Amino acid sequence: MSHTLGPEHRPHQQVAWDNQKRFNILVWHRRAGKTVYSIKWLLKHVLSCELDNPRGAYLAPQYKQAKNVAWQYLKDYSREIPGATFNESELRADYPGGAQIRLLGAAEPDALRGIYLDATVCDEMAQFAPRAWTEVINPALSDRHGKALMIGTVFGMANQFYEFYRDADAKAHWYSQLLTVNDTDAVDAEELERLKLDMSEAEFSQEMLCDWNAAVKGSYYGAQMTAAVNDGRITAVPHDPDLQCITSWDLGMADSTVIVVWQKLGSGELRAIDCLEFQNTGLADIVHELSDRPYLYSDHILPHDAKVRELGTGKSRVEVLRSLGINPTIAKMAHVQDGINATRGLLPRVWFDKDKCFKLVEALKTYRSTWNDENQVFNKTPAHTWESHYADAVRYFALMEHSTGNQWSEPLQYNEAGIR
Ligand SMILES: Nc1ncnc2c1ncn2[C@@H]1O[C@H](COP(=O)(O)OP(=O)(O)OP(=O)(O)O)[C@@H](O)[C@H]1O
Ligand SMILES: [Mg+2]
Repeated sequence: MSHTLGPEHRPHQQVAWDNQKRFNILVWHRRAGKTVYSIKWLLKHVLSCELDNPRGAYLAPQYKQAKNVAWQYLKDYSREIPGATFNESELRADYPGGAQIRLLGAAEPDALRGIYLDATVCDEMAQFAPRAWTEVINPALSDRHGKALMIGTVFGMANQFYEFYRDADAKAHWYSQLLTVNDTDAVDAEELERLKLDMSEAEFSQEMLCDWNAAVKGSYYGAQMTAAVNDGRITAVPHDPDLQCITSWDLGMADSTVIVVWQKLGSGELRAIDCLEFQNTGLADIVHELSDRPYLYSDHILPHDAKVRELGTGKSRVEVLRSLGINPTIAKMAHVQDGINATRGLLPRVWFDKDKCFKLVEALKTYRSTWNDENQVFNKTPAHTWESHYADAVRYFALMEHSTGNQWSEPLQYNEAGIR
């Protein structure tokens, strides 16, 4: 189709359009025209689909985002099509001949279960929970060999958006493209200067230069993690068998439990040597997994609420752990903000194993507060995302370190080399 609905493509959009394959992953800077391109792409593929009753879906991270931005574009660009109708309450457009496009939030992808898709857009995909693609969108594409457009700005490396981009070159039927603000003419030079002044360096790197390593906007530990990268503290950090290990836990009730394994040197240097994540796993299996590793544990730090007796069993998780042979230390109760401050103080001393703690590092880079759209400020509370479990496990450790002047643990043994 040479003619497309909506405005003419900008030059960089035209490149992506001309080179597209079945799966497309486009990493574009802010304001590059991602949402406009998404809607044009979706309309083209749904309306030119030769199968019966074509189905298309556009997903934004939240339903509200789909509604606020993309819905208007969809209606505007569909205007040329006689007989198109729009269902405002369901964010659904119907076209003569049976084609249909729906707008959804990726936070509730289950609305797509049971339907097939001929074309789907994942806009700002880095902020989708992985299961949206894996469990819902991808299977819906398979019946009729549907196409996908995954588009967005960068948001750290611990997400499918990064992984798909990284692996796209090696896969048939995938097209990838990364465009920084220097690769397009979407933002003029004067405006760019203004943005540079208004944004922090990390923000500008992330939003405009598509830097996967940049700390994300609103992140609590962005500056500390950037320093860790720059200092070379994210590297191979092997387990030292001459040092004991301390674990710190974030115990999930229904969801994930994260355990960070630390080693501590007399100099105050801290090493995050391993990190375990469990989903819906009982304490017995967790303890089993820990004892399978070649670590000699001196302490296990648990959050304060581990002392609470559960209604079902009448036992607290501390009691259950004791019955399994683990005698945990309970982190002192403190406001989240105090824990965040303690963590900020701790991170400059931490070395991270780049492989075993990859997800931990990424989580600490992207752990953030929620953005309040109405007041245009960050909320005081952290966003409850997968990152928060990792960050909480570190926070409990930091609180113990902070409250006890680093002396809370059994004296540790040091290796021959002693204090490094
Ligand atoms: N091909 C085009 N022709 C004319 N205007 C366009 C085109 N593509 C995008 N725009 C305009 O550029 C602006 C940004 O577009 P859009 O919202 O699609 O960008 P985005 O990359 O999704 O932005 P954000 O990063 O804020 O989500 C809008 O004003 C839009 O109307
Ligand atoms: Mg957009």
